[in-house]
Amino acid sequence: MKIAVLTGAGISAESGIKTFRDNDGLWEGHDVMEVASPQGWKKNPSNVLQFYNLRRKQLLEVKPNAAHFALTELQARFDVQIVTQNVDNLHEKAGNKNVLHLHGELLKARSEHNDNLVYPWEKDINLGDKAKDGNQLRPDIVWFGEAVPKIEEATKIFSEANIVIVIGTSLQVYPAAGLIDFAPVDAEIYLIDPNPNVEASKNLHVFAEKAAKATPRIVKKIISTHA
Ligand code: APR
Repeated sequence: MKIAVLTGAGISAESGIKTFRDNDGLWEGHDVMEVASPQGWKKNPSNVLQFYNLRRKQLLEVKPNAAHFALTELQARFDVQIVTQNVDNLHEKAGNKNVLHLHGELLKARSEHNDNLVYPWEKDINLGDKAKDGNQLRPDIVWFGEAVPKIEEATKIFSEANIVIVIGTSLQVYPAAGLIDFAPVDAEIYLIDPNPNVEASKNLHVFAEKAAKATPRIVKKIISTHA
């Protein structure tokens, strides 16, 4: 039995990391195009580095929550692949394996002209920090308007799933948001979001609740039904 999980910023909200589009979300304080686009990088790289350096520092203080840990429990029993839009490392900190970061990772840096020249990077990235190819380092994050290199791999995961669990995403950003459409028609889909913007249907079960509360319960239900 294969389980595909899609997570967004909402799974990290109860760990203290801001989402993007909720009130007081990250994008409320910033112009996306200034801090998360190739145009913004070209115009003012220091501004972009400052934005990500601040977000990276936050990671040192935050901890996974019950939703992340519930996924570790699920992975102990089933083949569970996690596709996350998040760039934080809370899935890994909770012991989740098989985590595919669709939009990159805050704790990685890469050459600004070669997205295969990637380095683990836990500290600030400063102007003048160079990759082996002599180019400036940038956060290994997929910016708006950039290709999503791992989308084919992610699509395959969802196309083979018997169960899909969607946790804490507004489903507004493609191609990530389209992944659930690739699930087989007979797949069971569970969606957890206090403000869901999808309608429940025969095989789509919607839980208008926070992740840390609903995910452990749904994981228990899946284990008791399918283990
Ligand atoms: N538990 C579960 N879901 C929550 C919680 C919570 N405690 N708090 C908020 N949410 C939900 C919100 O209702 C919303 O639907 O999480 C979702 C967060 O949506 P966004 O802020 O749009 O975040 P996300 O869907 O991950 O954004 C996708 O957009 O900005 C880009 O690259 C960025 O990866 C990001 C992508």
